[in-house]
Amino acid sequence: MAPRGRSYQLSASPVTVLAHLLFIAVTTLVLVWLLDKREGLAFKSDNKFKIFNLHPLFMIIGFILIGGEAIMAYNTVGGTRTTQRTVHWVLHLIALISGGLGIFAVFKFQNELGIPDMYTLHSWLGIITISLYALQWILGFFSYVFPGAEMGTRASYLPWHTFLGIVILFLAICTAEMGLVQKFLQLVLFQNQEALIVNFTGLLILLFGISVGLTVVLPRSY
Ligand code: HEM
Repeated sequence: MAPRGRSYQLSASPVTVLAHLLFIAVTTLVLVWLLDKREGLAFKSDNKFKIFNLHPLFMIIGFILIGGEAIMAYNTVGGTRTTQRTVHWVLHLIALISGGLGIFAVFKFQNELGIPDMYTLHSWLGIITISLYALQWILGFFSYVFPGAEMGTRASYLPWHTFLGIVILFLAICTAEMGLVQKFLQLVLFQNQEALIVNFTGLLILLFGISVGLTVVLPRSY
């Protein structure tokens, strides 16, 4: 919210357009990276890196980008408040399932190669992020969708729900940035085209997060 008596002089709509463009750019970069520069994707394969590649795919496109779209649903979806709320929680559920699949894929990859689990800060923050995301989804669902809390409780929980939603989005983005750097170093990319793809992916994910955050504080129409 703008400080009392002041205004951002901007509505959320143009920022949602920017966020959509960033969605397309990040999705393109991730697909080019995993399908063209890396080994491709598979749930089962002798080439275990195909299994690993599902991890960034699901975490970036499914968890972060679709999760961001869910946050923006109140600005981007027309119709009644109930329609917007339904799109919001369904997109968050898709993001949560994608996140679960992405984490399952990386555990499968590590186990099939005999690599120990949960030894990096990335993996710790990752588990914290997905756990908070699931908790936020469950609390939101039971408060606002089914069976729904009484009006006073719904209203007083709303600012916390919004604040925690943004915190969790940025936690997911921090975790993904760390994952990208880790992979960059494992692959010893240094200064090639793939290095640019990985770095630009990280940069644009951050811009996506900032745009989504802005749409939450900006007024819906100006
Ligand atoms: C919100 C996004 C992300 C979350 C929540 C997340 C979560 C996790 C978790 C929980 C693990 C531990 C798996 C285990 O110990 O068996 C892991 C591993 C890993 N992730 Fe991610 N990840 C995310 C994004 C990414 C991205 C974008 C990359 C880039 C390629 C990446 C690269 C890695 C790597 C290289 C590992 C194996 C080494 C390690 O355990 O840290 N992650 N991730």
